[in-house]
Amino acid sequence: MEQIVIISGSQANALAQQVASQLGIPHYPSTIRYFPDGELYLRLPTDVKGKKIILFESFARRPNDALVETVFLSETLHERGAGEVILVAPYLPYLRQDSEFNPGEIVSAKMLSTMLSKAGIDALVTVDPHLHRFKDLSELFKMKTLKVSAMPLLAEYFYNYHREALVVAPDEEAEQWAKLFSGKINAPYIVLEKHRFGDTEVEISGSIPKGTTAVIVDDIISTGGTIVEAAEKLKEHGFTSIHVCVTHALLVQDAEAKIFQAGVESLIATDTVINPYMRVSVAKIIGDALERLMSHVGNRA
Ligand code: R5P
Repeated sequence: MEQIVIISGSQANALAQQVASQLGIPHYPSTIRYFPDGELYLRLPTDVKGKKIILFESFARRPNDALVETVFLSETLHERGAGEVILVAPYLPYLRQDSEFNPGEIVSAKMLSTMLSKAGIDALVTVDPHLHRFKDLSELFKMKTLKVSAMPLLAEYFYNYHREALVVAPDEEAEQWAKLFSGKINAPYIVLEKHRFGDTEVEISGSIPKGTTAVIVDDIISTGGTIVEAAEKLKEHGFTSIHVCVTHALLVQDAEAKIFQAGVESLIATDTVINPYMRVSVAKIIGDALERLMSHVGNRA
């Protein structure tokens, strides 16, 4: 029978190891370092001929470097005789630029898809991808894709501490997360409207009922601008206990400080990105997704 192994890129080793233990398969971290001029040095950690490879990559911190790693690794895996290459990207980058908003802009989401296809990725597994104008990964990617959501896990965790809360989607695209989350804890949800004026400036509006406890749910926290604005609006409407549940806590620049200064009481995140608020692990749902994928996909997806 074809052997299955996990090979991880930089930054993804911990999660990759947990998934490997769940599936009972070997995990080999790649050797990765940077030359003094910034070029990447990569070395495969094991012989891959005839093996099915689960390539684990974290795109959270240096997405461009991780993309080069992925392309170099995937192409080399095929060149050295590997079978199917399944990419596990717990956080999938570049999906927010999913349209030519201004003339001449590159649609990065499409570029990501092209690069992964050309690099020979046969299947893709990810957690809570930012799908907005593309409604499903299959509209964007040619290879077989499987997405799983951390929202039910985040909701279960939250429910252990708070039995009643208003679930708040800070923008239109977050409605999908709010729906899932509120369904799990049997709570009402509202969807606010967001206008973005720049990388860090957003304005949030919408009708908010009176209440005391709210949980803002979103897929990504980057600069924290969205959460800060949503929290401010909730405070204006009398909410005194404001929490945040998020799948990918990128928390760039001073996001963390801004969020707590805005009065957020707790931040609950997953481990798709290494961060100080990892309360929920996605290892099990990724492992289960891989088992499903491998039982359905015979050969190349
Ligand atoms: C975009 O709509 C995403 O779902 C997030 O709301 C966004 O990426 C958060 O960015 P920031 O934390 O910089 O406001």
